[in-house]
Amino acid sequence: MDNDQIGLFNGDDSNGDDDVNEQSPSVEEPIYDSKGLLVRPVKPHSLNKAHFVSRYANTVGNAMKNKFPIRWWVELFAGPGRLRFSDDIDDSDGSPLQALNIDNPFSGYIFVDKDEECVESLKQRTSGYSNVYIFRDDANSPQLIEKIIQTVPKRALLILYCDPQGLDLHFKTIRSFAENYKCLDLIINFPVPAINRYLRAGNEELAADVLNHRFPRKLISGKSRAEAGEAIREYFLDQLREFGFKHSRAVVVRSDLKDTPIYDLLFSSRKWRARELFDSANEIGPRGQRTMRFEE
Ligand SMILES: C[S@@+](CC[C@H](N)C(=O)[O-])C[C@H]1O[C@@H](n2cnc3c(N)ncnc32)[C@H](O)[C@@H]1O
Repeated sequence: MDNDQIGLFNGDDSNGDDDVNEQSPSVEEPIYDSKGLLVRPVKPHSLNKAHFVSRYANTVGNAMKNKFPIRWWVELFAGPGRLRFSDDIDDSDGSPLQALNIDNPFSGYIFVDKDEECVESLKQRTSGYSNVYIFRDDANSPQLIEKIIQTVPKRALLILYCDPQGLDLHFKTIRSFAENYKCLDLIINFPVPAINRYLRAGNEELAADVLNHRFPRKLISGKSRAEAGEAIREYFLDQLREFGFKHSRAVVVRSDLKDTPIYDLLFSSRKWRARELFDSANEIGPRGQRTMRFEE
């Protein structure tokens, strides 16, 4: 592994299978708030993801407000805008609301979800904000991407946040954004253990789209689980490097219950300065702990 690209990775790729909500479609009954709007049930480790993403949004908003007068936040797999960690804790804002409520908001926001109830709930929750576009569509649809390209100016600083539930984000979707936007930073929930398990179970099709690899089982052939996880991550980073995305960080989000890795929160940019900002935004974790141990 190239340590210049990776932080906070300990090589353990064991099964984070308590994470029903993050990497596999939920089988639970839908939950609603007192206004009848959909709420997404999540495990406590989602607090980490929310923390890292919202801190980065706020840092970029503050640091880039003069350098980039046009800044857009595009979020694929946006969810309904409200999260429930447990019955004992008050619901929290989902990532769209967190990104909207930063000190220096972006010039515009696009949120995408394919689920009708999610979209309706998110529309109502964001109705008081200006310059918010919400599209109900498959995140990988070429028509959707075309619509986004028509909406977000090419010269904008664009932060693309992709938070899929499983093996749902296709590499070609990322490529379309990379080909159209020079100033693009990526934050991707990249499910290394789920891809690893999927390939080890003898499957290939979904991972082929996620990784942009015709025969992704080759990546793990003859490797231990940990080595296979590393090979998957490294291959994906290589794909990003082809588009100049040379400055990356992987924060491994772990389950609270078993302390097993669930996914990488992957940051990637063409600019080292952007990675510096991500680092500085996320030095301190959600519970006040120092979270990033970089090995450069
Ligand atoms: C992990 S949740 C997002 C949570 C959100 N980032 C937050 O923190 O509030 C994933 C969302 O992706 C949506 N989804 C799943 N497959 C999709 C697809 N192919 N295209 C668009 N949305 C999809 C689901 O409806 C779900 O709301």
